[in-house]
Amino acid sequence: MPKLRVPSFPVQIRYGLIWIFPGDPALVDERPIPTIPELEGPRPWACAPIALRWRAHHSMIIDNVSDFTHQHLHRRYQPFRNARLQSFEATDDEVVLRYEAEIGRGRLSQLFVDRKRVDADHITLGYRYPHQWSNTGDAIKHWLFVLPVDERNSRAFFLFCFKSLKVPFLPVAIPNRLMRVILRLANRCLIEPLLGQDGTAVEAEQEGYERHWDAQLAELNPVVRAFQTLTVRKWQEYCDGRRQPAHSAPGASAERAET
Ligand SMILES: [Fe+2]
Repeated sequence: MPKLRVPSFPVQIRYGLIWIFPGDPALVDERPIPTIPELEGPRPWACAPIALRWRAHHSMIIDNVSDFTHQHLHRRYQPFRNARLQSFEATDDEVVLRYEAEIGRGRLSQLFVDRKRVDADHITLGYRYPHQWSNTGDAIKHWLFVLPVDERNSRAFFLFCFKSLKVPFLPVAIPNRLMRVILRLANRCLIEPLLGQDGTAVEAEQEGYERHWDAQLAELNPVVRAFQTLTVRKWQEYCDGRRQPAHSAPGASAERAET
């Protein structure tokens, strides 16, 4: 009888997502799952995951989410408006940027944002390779995890986390146990349609790239170039690791596992 074997991979369930480590299982501890302290402990923030699939390269999705020059696309929902890039810096594994921007200015969303207690006029975002995050006033945060399906299809997993939301028209916070229910509704009515607009944009960008891949890139936001530099450098490190024998490149296998 033939010996049949099914490959297995280390798996963890955390933050409502299933995390699979597809690399060498011996290296799993070197690449831990990102820690989100806001979702742990006795009083975790409210959060409801959203999973989407878009026909776009994963780097286009990461670029889109942090590039606030596309506010006109969201003129109906206005998750941010009057955005002005204040600063950005790039380190080995991360690009961090700050915008002055009015966050949550949509007709519906602004009813829930407590602008008296939360600085919703500034936002910090980061691309901590390979994940993306944002922080508004230490009260509203999000994480985005992308899963490449192939060179032109990706899955995107969003976690929008809220410390508190206010009761519309009243200066009081929504009780914690109700937050999750409200978030599920908000996902359905507000956040998923909003992200649908981003999906349309990145899919159009992918289509444009395939048609005009050799055209000069016209990019308005300098941050996008920093994002792409980080993505390309990580890919290059991965390729370099593959070319070297495993014993001569201690970081290479871990990088290969990650990529
Ligand atoms: Fe967007």
